[in-house]
Amino acid sequence: MSNHISIFANVPQAPPDPILSLTALYRSDPSPNKVSLGVGAYRTSEGKPYVLPVVRTVEQQIAADPTTNHEYLPQDGLSDFNRLSARLILGSDSPALRDARCVTVQALSGTGALRVGFTFIATFMGPRHVYVSKQTWSNHRNVVPQSGLPPTRDYSYFDSTTGAVNIEAMLQDLRAAPSGSVILLHGCAHNPTGADPTNQDWQRILQVVKTNRLIPFFDNAYQGFASGNLDTDAWSTRLFVNSGIDVIIAQSYAKNMGMYGQRVGALNFVCANPEPVNAIRTQLKATIRAMYSSPPLHGARVAAQILGDEKLFHEWEEELLKMSGRIKEMRLRLRDALIANGAPGKWDHIVSQIGMFSYTGLTSQQVSFMQEKYHIYMTSNGRISMAGLTASNIEYVANAMKDAVHSIVKQD
Ligand code: LMR
Repeated sequence: MSNHISIFANVPQAPPDPILSLTALYRSDPSPNKVSLGVGAYRTSEGKPYVLPVVRTVEQQIAADPTTNHEYLPQDGLSDFNRLSARLILGSDSPALRDARCVTVQALSGTGALRVGFTFIATFMGPRHVYVSKQTWSNHRNVVPQSGLPPTRDYSYFDSTTGAVNIEAMLQDLRAAPSGSVILLHGCAHNPTGADPTNQDWQRILQVVKTNRLIPFFDNAYQGFASGNLDTDAWSTRLFVNSGIDVIIAQSYAKNMGMYGQRVGALNFVCANPEPVNAIRTQLKATIRAMYSSPPLHGARVAAQILGDEKLFHEWEEELLKMSGRIKEMRLRLRDALIANGAPGKWDHIVSQIGMFSYTGLTSQQVSFMQEKYHIYMTSNGRISMAGLTASNIEYVANAMKDAVHSIVKQD
């Protein structure tokens, strides 16, 4: 070791990521009873990571094909993947596609799409505010300022007394946002609350967005994974796009194709008219070139083959029904176990919420209690990843929740 003082000596330590740090803690916990309900990643009914059989099939075909190579992709990625991703989110009959008003670039999953999108906004649209739902995926608050925009502002979203969206409070905040602000919306399966606006709520949100000239940026990370139906989960996004305004959309294939670590996603700029499309594409390519040059090939190649082949696509739809079905079943079983064990409180929201997560209502103290006493890991806001529940741990988790609610009284 040298005696020099490092020029990096004053770098302060970053706080641990509230979601990803849980995986490391869980892995290092020697307890045989430990349960991981932290990061949102699908698990089988045996609690194992899952590679979709349709993904395996395509990977094997790619590996066996002697013409497969590993050349660089262009900055905006695999063109078939982009075309098919736009069709997936917008619908094959989309007027925006017919009129060539959409620019799609491949991205490093949903986070990468957000990062490129917000960097573009910071560069070409000047400093402006980005509003996020008051409860939101924690990384939204990192990505926005790291992209060169001011720290996020909140709009009201969740009503803890009803377990649903407080639409009046949300609309009031959106009306008060300065015109030209960006509004980050979760297209379906709101993370972390699992509470989505109703279709009627979405119509009202759209009216305010139009009247107040706000810029909607959809983060649609769960298409097909929430309801089990790809069109249903794209409903809100398509409503906005089909109203003819400019809309930005981040897509991810992490959850719906189980391609988490392959970082497969897309960023779409849907424009009110086709004129800006070429300029936007060139600037997105320039942004990507400076950030990471071009995206990875493997996952996009797999996704493109599934999206572009009728039979494989159908197999994928069946998989989506299975995965979302298992999660719905776990919701019912957890709710029933909490009622059966007499845990104080109401638990119906576990069933009415949708998507990967349930926002249990447990406090951060109750979460710590469960981690220390029962080795059950979840984010401190009381969010649990429903996919981490299995027939063999659900009673254990329900009993631990009961103990936490009994032992640690909520302070209002
Ligand atoms: C989550 O919210 O757990 C997932 O979206 C994974 C992540 O990157 O945070």
